[in-house]
Amino acid sequence: MRVGAIVRLVAVAVVMAGIAVAVALGFHWLPDSGSRQAGRIHFVFWFVTIICIAIFAIVTSVIAYSVVKFRRAPDDDSDGPPIHGHTGLEIVWTLVPAVLVTAISVVSAIVLAKNGDAGANPLRIDVTAQQFAWSFKYPDAKDIQTGILRLPLGRAAKLTLRSDDVIHSFWVPEFSQKQDAVPGIVTTVVVTPDKLGTFDVVCTELCGLGHALMRSNVIVMKPADFDAWVQQQRSALSGPPGQAGKTVFANNGCAACHTFTPAGATGKIGPDLDKLQAEAQKAGKPLQDFVRQSIVDPNAYIEPGYHPNVMPESFKDLPKGQLDALVQFLSRGSK
Ligand code: CUA
Repeated sequence: MRVGAIVRLVAVAVVMAGIAVAVALGFHWLPDSGSRQAGRIHFVFWFVTIICIAIFAIVTSVIAYSVVKFRRAPDDDSDGPPIHGHTGLEIVWTLVPAVLVTAISVVSAIVLAKNGDAGANPLRIDVTAQQFAWSFKYPDAKDIQTGILRLPLGRAAKLTLRSDDVIHSFWVPEFSQKQDAVPGIVTTVVVTPDKLGTFDVVCTELCGLGHALMRSNVIVMKPADFDAWVQQQRSALSGPPGQAGKTVFANNGCAACHTFTPAGATGKIGPDLDKLQAEAQKAGKPLQDFVRQSIVDPNAYIEPGYHPNVMPESFKDLPKGQLDALVQFLSRGSK
């Protein structure tokens, strides 16, 4: 091969690589990384992307060069020279992909192992998925249960996922990891947030009519702020029933669907909780029993004009103290 040909080949390869690099960098392909695990996953992504760009540049430059250089002359009807085998070439095109695929496997395996390692003292969080809501419980912190996930910056959190009904999947785009919540199986995912802020929690497994609405938030806080939040929750939940109940009401997102004046809630999706007294009479039950049943078994009595299976059943998993406080808060506040 002449030097001129090699120069032209390399020139085309550089142009092709430039185009591929522009496509790779010119678009915001991945969300900004918000956890150490995401950072490692992004590393694998770019490691593979760089290999792909190199292969793309080599293949397209050889094709482009061949199309131009070995193009058939207009009046040339002859066949090309017969070629049979080229041991050197075959070794190269077997060895190079083998090395690349092995390298990708090794890097991926290391990242997978690191991302699955929660370390010695992770923050434990129990995640329950249910049509169509997430709930998060902190067994290390008085079993606080909330509809919004809070994580301290820089500390590994081990999320244990369970599903009460069908398959859901936990996904925070900035954390780059997806983990299914499967009925009958316990799955885990480790997250070490390294960026403060509020991010979306998305269900990424089609789980029914409300799938698109099965969203929440994760708030990544400074460790001191997180500790203060846990402390404030602890004292609120062990305070007088009114205060504890109000906290449980706020934590579990009741205000998103219900109106309840003592909590300042104005939701319009579910029944008006200011009228619980009248509804309990209609249902023919003592107020407290009616309120408790409506929380743990919401389909037992459906207020006329509303639909079954809209209210999540996950509140039946509330720790007893929090459930009692909520029942008291609702029973006292309603007229
Ligand atoms: Cu839960 Cu989709």
